[in-house]
Amino acid sequence: MNIREIIPGVHYVGVNDRTTRLFEALWPLPYGVSYNSYIVKGCSKTALIDTVELGHSREFMQRVKLEAGIEKIDYLIINHMEPDHSGAIPSIIDAFPDIKIIGNKITIPMVKGFYHIKDDNRFITVADNDTLDLGGCTLLFRTTPMVHWPETMMTLCVEKKILFSGDVFGTFGALAGGIIDRDMDCSHYLDEMYRYYSNIVGKYGRFALAAVSKIKDLDYDYIGSTHGPIWHEMIPEVMEITRRLASYEPEKGVTVIYGSMYGNTAEIAETFACELSKRGVKKIAIHNASVSSLSDMISDAFRYEGLIVGAPTYNGTLFPAVKQFTDAMVTREIRNKVVATFGSYTWAPASPKILDETFGSLNLKNAGNIAIKQTIDDETAAKISEIADTFVGMLTLK
Ligand code: FEO
Repeated sequence: MNIREIIPGVHYVGVNDRTTRLFEALWPLPYGVSYNSYIVKGCSKTALIDTVELGHSREFMQRVKLEAGIEKIDYLIINHMEPDHSGAIPSIIDAFPDIKIIGNKITIPMVKGFYHIKDDNRFITVADNDTLDLGGCTLLFRTTPMVHWPETMMTLCVEKKILFSGDVFGTFGALAGGIIDRDMDCSHYLDEMYRYYSNIVGKYGRFALAAVSKIKDLDYDYIGSTHGPIWHEMIPEVMEITRRLASYEPEKGVTVIYGSMYGNTAEIAETFACELSKRGVKKIAIHNASVSSLSDMISDAFRYEGLIVGAPTYNGTLFPAVKQFTDAMVTREIRNKVVATFGSYTWAPASPKILDETFGSLNLKNAGNIAIKQTIDDETAAKISEIADTFVGMLTLK
């Protein structure tokens, strides 16, 4: 049995990366990542869907030639141009000099720009709903802009009922033997999907929703995204996670993010957490912003309904580790949260004001803000308790 043949005529030729520590030089990869690529063979023509990251070109080319038994590839379909998927384009052209590159009108200039390919005869431009016949096997193209670059598109292999979805439905985690969800324990890929979505695609929620809605009429049994397992049995779960994240629809729970230089702001954060617990909140994820990764903080903030953020004043502004987090919330246009903020200071009360204004600008449900000078005292402890009351009262998911 060739476990890389997903269905007759469709091969997986992606590669695993267990070496890169930071995806996009930003996001930790504790379990690695896969760069997925696929070969679709028709009776008369063969197509390759996307390639892999440049550093994995050699392994990829071996896989394309040996595992899929390919002598000629007629078309390279580019669903997504980000270099983790387009990096092996030059190797593919070297190996298959007559190959035609297929993308939409935004894709082609990107290919030319990244890889300096000048020959216009090399390219075929497709638009929404265009098709390509491989001989008894039809590829149908749907553009899905901004998930997560403007050129992104999806490709359906109509007869074989497999949808190549680009970044949508992707997740972190290298593949461990199996390729298709039914052959693997996928629990940790689903957990990583929250981090992948919120970190990478999070800013483009409305586009992700539009993409999901744009493929509603398509008939497929398999989804091959650019990262992670091929979804087959778990398509409903994966679809639901994506729909929820793209709609900013929260789960029950509260994320507490804080920065603290000497422990005084940490004490405020811990006090908030105790007050939440006293009021029955069970899922509380607390992050010291100087220690936790930004990636995990963004992921939890996307996932849970409540968000409490606190920081000291530092150089007259917000403590940098927390500022990085609040910037991430602003760029991702975070929505549907109950939020409370606290700022601590010694002589300059900048942080409470900045936090209040930052989250105020995001149009969230605001349960309150507290400024604490130096350390908690009885009066501020009572005010925290009061805010916790309001905060828990505003949570809709109990
Ligand atoms: Fe894995 Fe947006 O690329």
